[in-house]
Amino acid sequence: MSEKSAKLILPSGEELDLAMYSPSEGNDVVDVTKLVKSGLFTYDPGFMSTASCESKITYIDGAKGVLLYRGYPIDQLASQCDFMEVSYLLLNGELPNVDEKAEFIDRINNHTMVHEQLATFFRGFRRDAHPMAIMVGVVGALSAFYHDSLDINNPEHRVKSAFRLIAKVSTIAAMCYRYSMGHPFVYPRNEMSYAENFLHQMFSMPSHDDKPDPILVKAMDRIFTLHADHEQNCSTSTVRLAGSSGANPFACIAAGIASLWGPAHGGANEACLNMLNEIGDVKNIPEFIKRAKDKDDPFRLMGFGHRVYKNFDPRAKVMRESAHEVLKATGKQDDPILKIALELEKIALQDPYFVERKLYPNVDFYSGIILEAIGIPTNMFTVIFALARTVGWVAQWSEMIAEPTQKIGRPRQLYTGKSERSVQPIEER
Ligand code: CMC
Repeated sequence: MSEKSAKLILPSGEELDLAMYSPSEGNDVVDVTKLVKSGLFTYDPGFMSTASCESKITYIDGAKGVLLYRGYPIDQLASQCDFMEVSYLLLNGELPNVDEKAEFIDRINNHTMVHEQLATFFRGFRRDAHPMAIMVGVVGALSAFYHDSLDINNPEHRVKSAFRLIAKVSTIAAMCYRYSMGHPFVYPRNEMSYAENFLHQMFSMPSHDDKPDPILVKAMDRIFTLHADHEQNCSTSTVRLAGSSGANPFACIAAGIASLWGPAHGGANEACLNMLNEIGDVKNIPEFIKRAKDKDDPFRLMGFGHRVYKNFDPRAKVMRESAHEVLKATGKQDDPILKIALELEKIALQDPYFVERKLYPNVDFYSGIILEAIGIPTNMFTVIFALARTVGWVAQWSEMIAEPTQKIGRPRQLYTGKSERSVQPIEER
């Protein structure tokens, strides 16, 4: 099983042999599970040095700028496959052939509608609620609607829930937008591709039923593909942790959506556009660059830098191409906000502060530009990220549940609070 081992010498002189495992790609790992028997925990805030699970789905080499889904480089998938093929790959481990793809799409299409009662559920929210707040609530509520697929120990239930989540999340995401605009909900059209259907549900009107522009459909499909999975990031780890207690998949994905909302994670594309609006004019860029470098100022250039990629994010490379295509197709190269974005990209790629720290524009920088050019409001950006990431969360959740040695996730702590003491009567405190 394990050929290598590491030795840990404790202050008492006790020596512990710790097994080491070599992955198919990436860093070796030291198995610390037996430390607890010696009364020890490991301490790793932010999990910078911790592999939390074994997985066969996604691999990232941040130093080299590599991202593989099931072994395939992300740029090849983005240019040669569509989101449905990539979804099949993440869930099943291999790319589909023509028949497998058709059957997969058929099953997805079978679940694109949501229970009609769910539409009334929306009406409980304020119209000005943030769409992520609605999304967390509505996706969590799916477990109240689909009781027939909640047995996590039944593989058929797990597959059914997976299809339901991937199919319905797009319908729900569009409904969040329509609700905030006061527009009527639009039913899905199953003859359309996944991305086209989403844009149709977002923008079509009973009064005029425009077909989405194929260039925008392609860009949307790419955004979905590039965001589909990203190894054990914050929201995926949240989904796994929630799922490890046996919680149902709808509840787990809602937990993932909540975790994705933060500005250091999925909220970055929204934060990036807000920042571009705050900059307001190309002439103000130097002042914001100065603030980003100032250690006494908490301001950071949103859409730049990444915890794992210390080289150009491979997703950003593909997204950059799409961003320029979409700007051309929509004639928005001269849009003031997008002009600021392009100028910021140029400056940050040359400025020694960003170059030395390898703070490249990340995927959210470019996806923000694309979504803005498509006409999607800023507060919907993270919703779209959640939509795309649902397949990855579902694949990771399914992998975890199918693992026979799976245990509830329960980290320990370095306690630095008071030692045991007695409660004093209130009049003596
Ligand atoms: N603007 C200015 N300085 C920055 C930035 C930034 N966006 N990001 C990092 N730095 C500096 C940081 O101050 C530090 O400088 P020094 O070494 O002088 O102290 C250095 O770069 C390293 O930063 P770090 O905080 O150790 O890096 P991290 O790996 O902990 O943080 C990050 C990664 C993504 C949270 C951070 O780069 C950031 O806040 N970026 C802006 C938010 C953003 O765009 N997030 C989306 C990430 S991609 C989506 C996803 O995959 O979830």
